[in-house]
Amino acid sequence: MSALWTSAEIAEAVGGRAPAPFVASGVSIDSRTLARGDLFVALKGVRDGHDFVADALRKGAAGALVSRDPPEVAGDPRLIRVEDTLAALTALGRAGRARARAMVIAVTGSVGKTGTKEALRHVLARQGGCHAAAASHNNALGVPLTLARLPHDVPHAAIEIGMNRPGEIAPLARLVSPHVAIITTVEAVHIQFFPDEEAIADEKAAIMQGVVAGGAVVLNRDNRHFPRLLSHARQLGLARILTFGTDPRADIRLLDWRTEGFGGRARARLLGQEISFRLAAPGRHAAQNALAVLAAVFATGADPFRAAEDLADLAPAPGRGQRVAVRFGDGEAVLIDDSYNASPPSMRAAFAVLAEALASRRVAVLGDMLELGERAEDEHRALAQAAVQARIDLVFCCGPLMHHLYEALPMRMRGAHAADSEALLPLLHGALQPGDVILVKGSLGSRMGRIVEFLARGVG
Ligand SMILES: Nc1ncnc2c1ncn2[C@@H]1O[C@H](COP(=O)(O)OP(=O)(O)OP(=O)(O)O)[C@@H](O)[C@H]1O
Ligand SMILES: [Mg+2]
Repeated sequence: MSALWTSAEIAEAVGGRAPAPFVASGVSIDSRTLARGDLFVALKGVRDGHDFVADALRKGAAGALVSRDPPEVAGDPRLIRVEDTLAALTALGRAGRARARAMVIAVTGSVGKTGTKEALRHVLARQGGCHAAAASHNNALGVPLTLARLPHDVPHAAIEIGMNRPGEIAPLARLVSPHVAIITTVEAVHIQFFPDEEAIADEKAAIMQGVVAGGAVVLNRDNRHFPRLLSHARQLGLARILTFGTDPRADIRLLDWRTEGFGGRARARLLGQEISFRLAAPGRHAAQNALAVLAAVFATGADPFRAAEDLADLAPAPGRGQRVAVRFGDGEAVLIDDSYNASPPSMRAAFAVLAEALASRRVAVLGDMLELGERAEDEHRALAQAAVQARIDLVFCCGPLMHHLYEALPMRMRGAHAADSEALLPLLHGALQPGDVILVKGSLGSRMGRIVEFLARGVG
């Protein structure tokens, strides 16, 4: 158990007073997952964290940040009192960042943030170590928490920054103060609170406001908003601008990509050299993200060639494109479990992966894409054409929004539509066959995980 924060350091960072000395080895905001030695931060979430302070201390929390003393532990010397615990966590994150010796990479973009962050973690873990959050953790809570957990001596950190509304990225970017900022791509995702895609591009560009002097930004040369992002970078006087993509003008250029097994192989031009590397993750979009990773690795001074080799064994996580064999009587089908997340660009990317699959039939089982605001119905309908282009044989849909896609499909492609994922299960049961490759995808809120569980148990 190594020391992360002393009580004195915490008190100084948050402007509070620590009645008794302690040493924290981690930071927790949830008493259920708290580890012995953690500092517990009592936040007001769905439930008030102050109700769990006593529990946290019983479970071995080193101390707690509170805005009032919970009755069961009133006067406990392990409590550090502040006015606002979220502001205190943010201050602790700022202090964590300020003392760190890490080269810090921040990742934003409409899709691919978590995947890119995970790839950075994977390759940089083999070049001295990399701190990154376990989950998406990309908002006004997750980002400070990730920084508060940053060990002072780890050589790299990869931090995701997301947004739902205008104005959210800039303060988080300043908090992170990255040496390198990546914008994976700009698409009409999380669009609910934005007038148009240009406004989204401007919001993503705000990540550059946090980049430290002499730092770099990594931009997607193929994205239609590239010129807009570039002009933001120039206006901010950013020292280094690195571009990636298939465009011949890209600094790190994808020359060729093809499916190989469950993953792919990319040929790219990197720093004047042609390289070829394997990706364990499927899809051209994964190769695009990989180029952004290599650009950022290079910009931090680490070795991008070694990183390219190390991508070969970064398999997709559950819910993020993982392949699972499904027992089917005497035969087998293949499930592509992409149930964690969905948006129009990521649906298209997943269809492209399905199109490349070797299968007797290609089947898509799709749930609603959320957070699309007024465009939701049109965006669902518009996927019909993409499904046809990907030569999908059969499409099953669930949820009210997916009904619009279902109705737009040619009759021959219509599997079934149901109100929700649970109601779709019996309809799927009779329709699937051995030899099928089955993509399951939808927003987390459409609970497509239910279908994955069902298929993973075996059919027939
Ligand atoms: N460059 C890309 N183009 C299209 N789709 C992508 C791209 N990168 C990742 N995806 C797909 O987008 C989905 C979400 O990926 P990921 O979780 O990495 O994104 P995110 O930006 O972190 O999302 P969130 O905003 O929910 O945090 C996955 O299905 C993934 O396969
Ligand atoms: Mg994410």
